[in-house]
Amino acid sequence: MGYRKRAGLAALLGGLAAMSLVAIATPVVTRARAQGADPALVAQGAYVARASDCVACHTTPGGRPFAGGLPFVLATGTIYASNITPDAVHGIGRYTETEFARAVREGVRRDGATLYPAMPYPSYARMSDADIHALYAYFMHGVAPVAQMVRPNDVSWPMSMRWPLIFWRLLFSPSVKDAQASSDRAFSDPVVARGAYLVEGPGHCGACHTQRAVTMQETVLTAEAGTRFLAGGGAIDGWIPTSLRGENRTGLGRWSEDEIVAFLKTGRIQNGSAFGGMSDAVGHGTQHLTDADLHAIARFLKTLSPDDATQAPWTYDATLARALHSGDVSAQGARTYVDHCAACHRTDGHGYPTVFPPLAGNPVVMGASPDSLIHIVLTGDTLRATQAAPSAFVMPGFADHMSDQNVADVVSFIRKAWGNDATPVTARDVARMRKALPRGDGADSQSPTNLPLN
Ligand code: HEC
Ligand code: HEC
Ligand code: HEC
Repeated sequence: MGYRKRAGLAALLGGLAAMSLVAIATPVVTRARAQGADPALVAQGAYVARASDCVACHTTPGGRPFAGGLPFVLATGTIYASNITPDAVHGIGRYTETEFARAVREGVRRDGATLYPAMPYPSYARMSDADIHALYAYFMHGVAPVAQMVRPNDVSWPMSMRWPLIFWRLLFSPSVKDAQASSDRAFSDPVVARGAYLVEGPGHCGACHTQRAVTMQETVLTAEAGTRFLAGGGAIDGWIPTSLRGENRTGLGRWSEDEIVAFLKTGRIQNGSAFGGMSDAVGHGTQHLTDADLHAIARFLKTLSPDDATQAPWTYDATLARALHSGDVSAQGARTYVDHCAACHRTDGHGYPTVFPPLAGNPVVMGASPDSLIHIVLTGDTLRATQAAPSAFVMPGFADHMSDQNVADVVSFIRKAWGNDATPVTARDVARMRKALPRGDGADSQSPTNLPLN
């Protein structure tokens, strides 16, 4: 498991660090167990499980699907995701459908204890009875039981008492009735309605892409609650989930519906590629959704007005590319860029679309926080294979080859070049990230061949 995170969203969702390093065996419906249950219902439940990304948190890298054990480092200690296979002793084999629905949508365990909100029940509260019914059939009949005990939580008294979580739940998690009423709100386009359901409910996109308050709840849970919904979240394991709203420079304002669909399906389009926590969301979640559902998600995202409406439209500025082309590397960071980055991302910043992402006009590069950029330059990352785009591409890490000042200069450079307009970063920012990131995180990029197609 990675490093000790500071309190906050990073801490709450901390275990996802491990996830970004190793792809996970994908669960399949085991035919034998499906016997006795309606196979169509079980298959539908498997699909709902994909759309909800249950596997991301309930499986350790290399571990059996849904057998639990993934650590979540909180400010108060470490908790471990439960075994949710149908094993009667160690898993959820004894859960009735009502108890299962209560755990998933209301965060209440079979024994009545409240779950930590690392389990995203405030979003799952929106899930329809039909989806929960199918999900239950899948977990009981389509998932293989694993008799494996999950380590007990490592939270010391008095913080280990779960009853204070009840107050959190009552304050911040909607009742199923209210959540479903909100999901049933009027939409003029049924495709957008489906997209809203998938994003706000099972997809729990806001768990990463919406800012959290100090008390850890997402500041808003739905699009109707205000423009902070999906306006960009706090760091998770040193990766910044960007805005999914209509901002021109830092959001999806310049992405078309089809481009968003292609991104969620393949993890790579001419505008950018998936990395950090988003690789997991694409890897075991969105790439498996039907085209109809991906279009629903994309069309819904395109209805979200910008939270920051002041951004001037981004246009490409060729001045710097011309200077670099003629050998002028006098701009700060330009020399480092030409020596270490341009081979893949090119001097014109356009990259090689769907192989090496562009840095010109890329919303990730212009985001308010530079943490993702510093992170990826230090540790590198792997653009993972997906079913629809089966090649992996590696971005090398530069932690061992660049000083804090070099990294600060090159990141500041890409944030200003080609019409980009984001604030510069300092060597101090880089030193802070270097301390927070685990050594050898770049192991990820050294073993691209270990990445199975999932
Ligand atoms: C973002 C991470 C995350 C996701 C996604 C997630 N869970 Fe969980 N889940 C957890 C954690 C962590 C716990 C343990 C919390 C605790 O101990 O309080 C948990 C607990 C549970 C429990 C309680 C089991 C028990 O008796 O201990 C059930 C049931 C459950 N999850 C089902 C699901 C299902 C079904 C999905 C997909 C629809 C899902 N989870 C998705 C993190 C997650
Ligand atoms: C585990 C956290 C996490 C979850 C859950 C998550 N995302 Fe992301 N997402 C990220 C991070 C981090 C980035 C920034 C890195 C990148 O661009 O891949 C991102 C980037 C994106 C981008 C590209 C934005 C850009 O400007 O490059 C899109 C589109 C996106 N997410 C859509 C979604 C949707 C839709 C969902 C829900 C189905 C979702 N995400 C769920 C973490 C997450
Ligand atoms: C060997 C080719 C290569 C080199 C050299 C390289 N990169 Fe990358 N870069 C990639 C690949 C591949 C990705 C996609 C990684 C992923 O999606 O996980 C990427 C992603 C990025 C991203 C995230 C953008 C996005 O949308 O995914 C940034 C920012 C970035 N690189 C900056 C740099 C900088 C700055 C340098 C020089 C210090 C550099 N890269 C050197 C190949 C390279």
